[in-house]
Amino acid sequence: MSDHGDRSPAREFAALARGSTRLAVVGATGAVGREVLAILADLGVEGGRVRAFASSVDSGPTIRVGSLELPVVALPEDSGEIATALNDVDVVIGAADAVTAARVREPAERVGCVFVDNSSAFRLDPSVPLVVPEVNPEDLDGACTVASPNCSAILLATALEPLRRSFGIERVVVATYQAVSGAGFAAIAELERQSRAVLDGHPVRPSVFPELCAFNVFAHESEVDGDGHNVEERKIVEEIRRIWRAPDARIAPTCVRVPVRRAHSQAITVELGRPALEADVRAALTAGQGIEIVDDRDERRFPTPLRASGGDTVLVGRIRRAADARVEGGGGATRDFALFVCTDQLRKGAARNALQIAARLLAAR
Ligand SMILES: NC(=O)c1ccc[n+]([C@@H]2O[C@H](COP(=O)([O-])OP(=O)(O)OC[C@H]3O[C@@H](n4cnc5c(N)ncnc54)[C@H](OP(=O)(O)O)[C@@H]3O)[C@@H](O)[C@H]2O)c1
Repeated sequence: MSDHGDRSPAREFAALARGSTRLAVVGATGAVGREVLAILADLGVEGGRVRAFASSVDSGPTIRVGSLELPVVALPEDSGEIATALNDVDVVIGAADAVTAARVREPAERVGCVFVDNSSAFRLDPSVPLVVPEVNPEDLDGACTVASPNCSAILLATALEPLRRSFGIERVVVATYQAVSGAGFAAIAELERQSRAVLDGHPVRPSVFPELCAFNVFAHESEVDGDGHNVEERKIVEEIRRIWRAPDARIAPTCVRVPVRRAHSQAITVELGRPALEADVRAALTAGQGIEIVDDRDERRFPTPLRASGGDTVLVGRIRRAADARVEGGGGATRDFALFVCTDQLRKGAARNALQIAARLLAAR
């Protein structure tokens, strides 16, 4: 485990945990919103300090996550009413869709809230920082509204950051293995329902995804452009370039859904900026923030989505010279390396990343 010493949850989230901080979660009944509440519950935040907004109260008048039991409030349509509802709130975590996020931003800023949003609404907006705290925390400086990146971009950026800092990066080729919960709460139920139906020999009709998700693997369901890239692949490229401030960074993703409940995986092949020994690459990753090395070749113990589920770190393993590595210089140094990484995308890929940002912004006020 190499999450830096002063980054224990208690310290990292101290500004959120203190008794005077009031929080709101917009989209509290969804997959990401529930995870935000779970982290707040683990921090000991009392229910009286948290407001839970959803589209309506149809899914229940209250939501219970861990020790928190909160009334669910329908987010008002009107901007003035949203401002009134957020009047005494310090931090708003956006865990709904992009249209809802766009409605919340202005009233949240008007009443002086920190607004950290998980949707795609502001990720490419130059007036809004796009931040992974382990990678570009300096971009938070003075911000009120901050975007948390796409979950696959967060995983890739966090895993590669130690290599980018130590050796530079020329090119990344990445294949994703994305959990169904990346498509929201309804997708988890769909995987469970379909799995039972297939095993029982009943007919199955997909609803959340265009393909069967049980016992299947398929290209990411987002729209495909004229060049054949889907939206998820475009997001990874554009967001990583923005986070790295490297508009020409070479990143080639292929995004795929797999029948996993939670935690995304990625097979990464990276070309470094300069040749390195495998031992140096391993040492850099071991010292990286938010990373846990799981790489036991003898026991064949490597990252898996199940190992990553519910955790807060990026699991990194299968660290090796690429099979086609070009050796440069003495001792077998090369620029070509391969990794396999997993993280719980509902935690580090969304809820945790957003709360890390919120805690830093609040602490700096
Ligand atoms: N899932 C992931 O792994 C992941 C990772 C990174 C980022 N994100 C982003 O995080 C956001 C939430 O994703 P999710 O997976 O949690 O989706 P989800 O499970 O479908 O939840 C969506 C939430 O938004 C609420 N909502 C919808 N329309 C609303 C409105 N008009 N006003 C207020 N609340 C509204 C829903 O409330 P009701 O229950 O009342 O409908 C629900 O609480 C999305 O923008 C997604 O792209 C998701």
